[in-house]
Amino acid sequence: MSEGYSSSAKGNFEAMVCSNRQIGPGFYRLRLQFTQDGAMAFANFVPGQFAQFDLSKTALPSPDAVPHELHDASGRKILLRRPFSFAEVTPEGDVTFAELLYCAVGPATLRMTTLSAGDQIGVIGPLGRGYRIPDGKKTVLLVGGGMGTPPLQHLAQSLTACDDGINVVSLAGAKTAEALPFEGLLDELSQNLGFSVPEFAKYGIESLIATDDGSAGYHGLVTDCLTEWLEESDLPIDDIIICACGPEPMLASVAQIAAEKNIDCQVSMERRMACGIGLCQSCAVECKVAGSNETIYKMCCQDGPVFDAKEVVFP
Ligand SMILES: Cc1cc2nc3c(=O)[nH]c(=O)nc-3n(C[C@H](O)[C@H](O)[C@H](O)COP(=O)(O)OP(=O)(O)OC[C@H]3O[C@@H](n4cnc5c(N)ncnc54)[C@H](O)[C@@H]3O)c2cc1C
Ligand code: FES
Repeated sequence: MSEGYSSSAKGNFEAMVCSNRQIGPGFYRLRLQFTQDGAMAFANFVPGQFAQFDLSKTALPSPDAVPHELHDASGRKILLRRPFSFAEVTPEGDVTFAELLYCAVGPATLRMTTLSAGDQIGVIGPLGRGYRIPDGKKTVLLVGGGMGTPPLQHLAQSLTACDDGINVVSLAGAKTAEALPFEGLLDELSQNLGFSVPEFAKYGIESLIATDDGSAGYHGLVTDCLTEWLEESDLPIDDIIICACGPEPMLASVAQIAAEKNIDCQVSMERRMACGIGLCQSCAVECKVAGSNETIYKMCCQDGPVFDAKEVVFP
C-alpha cells in the first residue's frame, strides 16, 4: 500500500505552460511542463496530492471577458498561492507533463485563464497526502461531485497504468449536464451517443453520470447512484474501496453510505488553504481519535487532503 505521498523532495519549481484550453462553460484544461528537479519531483506526484500555484503576476483578462458575477472580485490582489490537484501526470524522458482542470471562480482562477503557451509559472509541490489503495482491493469506485473529478482522473490514470487487475468504475455527478467538467461530453449527449466520459473511457473505465435535474444520466444525486450501484453489485465488500472528491456535503453522504455498508472509503477534503505547508492552521479538519470520544484537529494540507472517511467529523 502506498503512503499517499511521494518520496521525492517537494520544492518551488518553475513550470512552462504548454497549452491552456477552454473545454466547457467556465472550465479550462492547463497543460504544464516541468524540467530538471521539477520533472523528478512531479513524476512521483500521488493522485490526490496538490500543488500551490503563484498567480500573483499573471494578468487579468480584459474587462469584457470577465463574467458579470466576478467583476467585483476580479480586481482583488493575489497575496496567497492557490491549491490545485492534477488530473493527469505523465513523465516522458527528462520532462514531466501535468494537466490541471480548473474552473474560473475568482481572481486567481480568472488570471489563470490568460496563461498561454511559453509562459512560466511558480508551483510548489508535491504537497499533502493522496489516495492510498490498500493491497488486496479489487474494485475502486471513484465518486466525484462537480469540480471534484480532477484527482479522480489522475487516480484512474495511475490505477490503470499498474495493470494489476483492479477494476475501476467512475461515478460523476453535477447539478446539470453543463456543469460536468468533461471535454466533449455535451457533444456526445447532443448526438445521443450515450454517456461514455472520454476522460475515463481512454483508460478503459466504465463511467456513470448523475445530474440533479436529470439532464444527463441518472436523475438524482451521485450518492443515490452510488447506493444503487452497491445494491446491485454482488462483489465482496472487503474487495471494494470508495475514493471520493467533491463538495463536503457530498463527501459526508458518501462517508455515511460507506460506514453503513462497512466499505473502506477515502475522501479528499478540499479546505480553503493559505500556506499549504502546515504553518498557518487555516485548514483544520476535525478528526476522531480511534478508541475514544475525543476529537483532534488535523491539517488538511499536511495530514490530508485525503483522509480515511471514518476519521473525519463532518459538520
Ligand atoms: C487540495 C485542493 C485541490 C484543489 N484542486 C482544484 C482543481 O483541481 N481544480 C479547481 O478548479 N479547483 C481546485 N481547488 C480549488 C481552488 O483552489 C480554488 O478554486 C481557488 O483557490 C480559487 O481561487 P480564486 O482566487 O479564483 O477564487 P476565490 O475568491 O479564492 O474563491 C472563489 C470561490 O470559491 C470558493 N473556494 C475557494 N477555494 C475553495 C476550496 N478549497 N473549497 C471550496 N470552495 C472554495 C470560495 O469560497 C469562493 O466562494 C482545489 C482546492 C484544494 C484545497
Ligand atoms: S494551509 Fe496553512 S496549515 Fe494548512
